[in-house]
Amino acid sequence: MKTFNVGLIGMGTVGTGVARILLEKDSPLLEKLDCVPVLKGIADSNPDVKTKLNLSPDIFFTNDAKALLNNPDIQVVVELIGGLHPAKEIIMLALEKGKDVVTANKMLLALHGSELFSKARQHGKSISFEASVGGGIPIIAALRDGFIANRIESIFGIVNGTTNYILTKMTKENVKYSDALAEAQKLGYAEKDPTMDVEGIDSSHKLAILARIGFGVDIDYNHIYHEGISAVDLADIWYAHELGYTLKLLAIAKKPGNMIELRVHPTLLPHDHPLSSVNGVFNAICVNGSAVGETMLYGRGAGQMPTASAVVADLVDVALGRAGITFNAMKTFSGGRENIPIADILNIKTRYYLRFSVVDKPGVLAKISGILGNYEISIASVIQHKARENGNVPLVMMTHLAEEGNLQKALTEIKRLDVIKDHTKFLRVEE
Ligand code: HSE
Repeated sequence: MKTFNVGLIGMGTVGTGVARILLEKDSPLLEKLDCVPVLKGIADSNPDVKTKLNLSPDIFFTNDAKALLNNPDIQVVVELIGGLHPAKEIIMLALEKGKDVVTANKMLLALHGSELFSKARQHGKSISFEASVGGGIPIIAALRDGFIANRIESIFGIVNGTTNYILTKMTKENVKYSDALAEAQKLGYAEKDPTMDVEGIDSSHKLAILARIGFGVDIDYNHIYHEGISAVDLADIWYAHELGYTLKLLAIAKKPGNMIELRVHPTLLPHDHPLSSVNGVFNAICVNGSAVGETMLYGRGAGQMPTASAVVADLVDVALGRAGITFNAMKTFSGGRENIPIADILNIKTRYYLRFSVVDKPGVLAKISGILGNYEISIASVIQHKARENGNVPLVMMTHLAEEGNLQKALTEIKRLDVIKDHTKFLRVEE
């Protein structure tokens, strides 16, 4: 049996999971392959890892990542420390030292992917990153290999388990945002500082990676629009439900013509859309391709063993030589085939859900619909309940397709009406 030597940097939850798979005596890798990745070295600041994993003495252990990179026996380095620094420097050095790299670092790839990929090309090495999006779901392999025959028309889905848990809790159990977040923190899904997840930043990092592979282009992360769920009100979940929609935080990439739309925001989906039934910490990603049509991949988007499963799949690709072949052949890793502009959010067209808080008197609806009409926004349906909030009435509307720039202008004008009380809420809709 041939072997390929692996060095792990960062023994947090996922690193420990990867070590467990690689150290398994009756590993499925041994049953299936003639060439297997073998754990040869570990770098971590915590020396307890050695005893916790019962490491044999022939596995090199160090608290210095550089010592691991200088070890000539190690052929592939797995970076699992996360964050931008020193992860970026570690990967750069690993490539310079002639090692292939496997990483789960979505933020680093979203922000510095081009630089890292070009460095890898320069040194004839590869970077693999299946675990960076969708945990155990093999979405990168699907986009890179399985769907290669397709012009990708859209990629959209739920790529953050924490926010999906919170929205599911709000929807199914009628729990307000702050309580659902506290529960997610208690269960270990949300961090103490939940900003990256709840403000849609984690999803936008993942979207940058998906769009790069799907569309074959170099993505400037800074042009991705993102909005999180921290301002979502239970009332909007109820009204949207009544109108036949479920609220989800979606990462959306579309390529209509010569532009790319890249956006992350709370989105209303019809109840019968497959993504509407993706609940809790699960992730799901829909890909529409010119030949394959509609597809959806579903699974655990985070967690120790699902993410470790993706890392080990990358290690096998490297060990078998597949990673290098694909990495060298794909134009996206040398800067992409062309520079396609990313559409401004004001130029996108969707349907909208609007919730106004208004004074309950004749003529209010006419005033609002008049302004919407002036901006070519057509109303599809309206609901108004008798229930009063602070003496005012919620007026909920669904529009037909409209341009976001027009909607923003109309809302600015509507806000000035004396019959409008409180902040107006709007949500984008995908069918
Ligand atoms: N924080 C992420 C999530 C998991 O909640 O989905 C890692 O990507």
